Amino acid sequence: DRDDGYRLWLKYDLIKDASQRATYARSAQFIALSGNTPVLKTAAEELQAGLQGLLGKAVPIVTSAGNKTGGIILTTRADLPTRNDEGYQITGKQNITVSGRTDAGVLYGAFALLRQLQTGQPISGLSLISNPKIQLRMLNHWDNTDGSIERGYAGSSLWNWYELPERIDPRYRDYARANASIGINGTVVNNVNASSRFLTAEYLEKVAALANVFRPYGIKIYLSVYFPAPKTIGGLKTADPLDPEVNKWWADKATEIYKLIPDFGGFLVKANSEGQPGPQDYNRTHADGANMLAKALAPHKGIVIWRAFVYKADGKADRFKAAYEEFQPLDGQFDKNVIVQVKNGPIDFQPREPFSPIFGVMPKTPLGMEFQLTQEYLGFATHLVYEAPIFKECLDSDTYVTGKNSTVAKVIDGSLHAYPLTAIAGVANTGSDRNWTGHPLAQANWYAFGRLAWDHSLSSEALANEWVKMTLTTEPASVKTITDMLLKSRDIYVNYNTPMGLSRPWTGAHFAPEPWQNRSSRPDWTAIYYHRADSLGLGFDRTAKGSNALAQYRPEVQQQWNNPETCPLPYLLWFHHVPWTKKLSTGRTLWDELCTRFYTGADSVGWLQKQWAQVKKDVNPETFDNVAGRLATQQKEAIWWRDAWVLYLQEFSRQPIPAPFKKPE
Ligand code: GCU
Repeated sequence: DRDDGYRLWLKYDLIKDASQRATYARSAQFIALSGNTPVLKTAAEELQAGLQGLLGKAVPIVTSAGNKTGGIILTTRADLPTRNDEGYQITGKQNITVSGRTDAGVLYGAFALLRQLQTGQPISGLSLISNPKIQLRMLNHWDNTDGSIERGYAGSSLWNWYELPERIDPRYRDYARANASIGINGTVVNNVNASSRFLTAEYLEKVAALANVFRPYGIKIYLSVYFPAPKTIGGLKTADPLDPEVNKWWADKATEIYKLIPDFGGFLVKANSEGQPGPQDYNRTHADGANMLAKALAPHKGIVIWRAFVYKADGKADRFKAAYEEFQPLDGQFDKNVIVQVKNGPIDFQPREPFSPIFGVMPKTPLGMEFQLTQEYLGFATHLVYEAPIFKECLDSDTYVTGKNSTVAKVIDGSLHAYPLTAIAGVANTGSDRNWTGHPLAQANWYAFGRLAWDHSLSSEALANEWVKMTLTTEPASVKTITDMLLKSRDIYVNYNTPMGLSRPWTGAHFAPEPWQNRSSRPDWTAIYYHRADSLGLGFDRTAKGSNALAQYRPEVQQQWNNPETCPLPYLLWFHHVPWTKKLSTGRTLWDELCTRFYTGADSVGWLQKQWAQVKKDVNPETFDNVAGRLATQQKEAIWWRDAWVLYLQEFSRQPIPAPFKKPE
């Protein structure tokens, strides 16, 4: 089946075990649906299609169960004891009842019921309630008008702007199905480095056509906006957020958008960041800029998502500190329909970063999370990196802002500061490749992101296990092998790529090792700015003797990291400049420890290959070969990374490569 990858985790292949199938079938003889709103119809049709595949029999949709038993009832109930409008309840014995307070709740419940079958769980006798912990669960597409995707490695954009609005690619619907099945309810369709063309009448019509496809799946559409659009497409002389004409232009634009898209979600904004214009060009603040847009959207119930990814082109400053410095003083100044979206990592989506110190210090401003699914710094689409452990590590970090157990998750789900709005976004890893994500196993990152956005308490392991069963195989030994590969993949990558808190050994493309690359248009875009290698040692001193970025964290967090003797090794070089010969807790010197990690990391890719070879008989042959080929590339490139780092750093350390390891070839 060459389409194996296309069908994602929505395969619904016939359940092999006939008795298991028969058991399920006894509880799924019909689907009763009262109501015919588009989202409810989607729920019934998805359930029907899924059951058809899994059970190999047609399950009729009826308008009422009457006094029949052995079926599934889909229903909305205003008095449901779910915690919020998108939650669902699944109960029942004679009939299985899937209910939500809203249509969307029923849709999520229908997919949850299918998941039970896909993962071999019981469906009768269930009594479960599930609520999304975060309100806005979104994908951010960095897609451009010309079909390219910034940092996209799975082909070109899914959106065929030249064909829209007339031709609707059936793939748009499949995209919506996949997202709805994991609880994603919003999508920003264009790049944060935004073209103002998206706000022209010509493009808004195209965007509206996409919105029409997504709506029956409970997904709202959002746009990234170019802050100076009033100048570039509005003909005004300024984009100053305090200028009345500029305000009017945005208000009129919002009205125009909502005429076409009544449930439009709102705007995502990158401003005064990496050369993008913004309110600071007019000596105004981020809050002035955000509030102007918020006022334009408020009458329509739209929201503004304002990004906190800011830093100056200053080789002396510590980029790590910038978001906190610019945004924390603005706490309390943002309008009610503004969310500030913070990247995972004070620097930029590195393979391992400490959590951003801004989480916890803006109790009056809803802070949303921005994770990156596309593997900009994780080996593009050839290296295997399962990202759930990255997301979990961040979400589970304790900020200590209101004492122990003030996790980042509790900041962004609103429970710590009672935020009225909560949001989480993943920068999408999808593209026009037939299998959506290029690397077949990278689908797991899209999947895990959506599931964690719904419930951040789920474990990386549980999600890997679920995804493998739904997508690749249900054979227990292979499920275990692949789950294990996924769970170890991130640490393997970190070991050969950026061990112990190294970061950003790249310029431009963010793929090849370039720790030596110090020619750049900006002093903070050189490699040495980040790793600080010299004859004495390695690492960025962020203690009081250095940039003092550590002071942005609570004392309990500082304590974990500010002493080089006790700082956990994965974070050591984030916070300390460590002598090459310093003895670490492993008993090895810094230099020997680095070499150990580079070498074992690269070797571990061989382990991944061996593991994968074992699952051959249980995995679709196309998918098997695809992954095997990519792992072979990864093996080659891991060695390349290892040798590049070791040889480069050796120029500073002047130490031999420790005995157990071979010399680079
Ligand atoms: C990174 C990335 C850019 C992107 C930017 C952002 O720097 O390399 O391509 O535009 O992040 O998130 O705004």
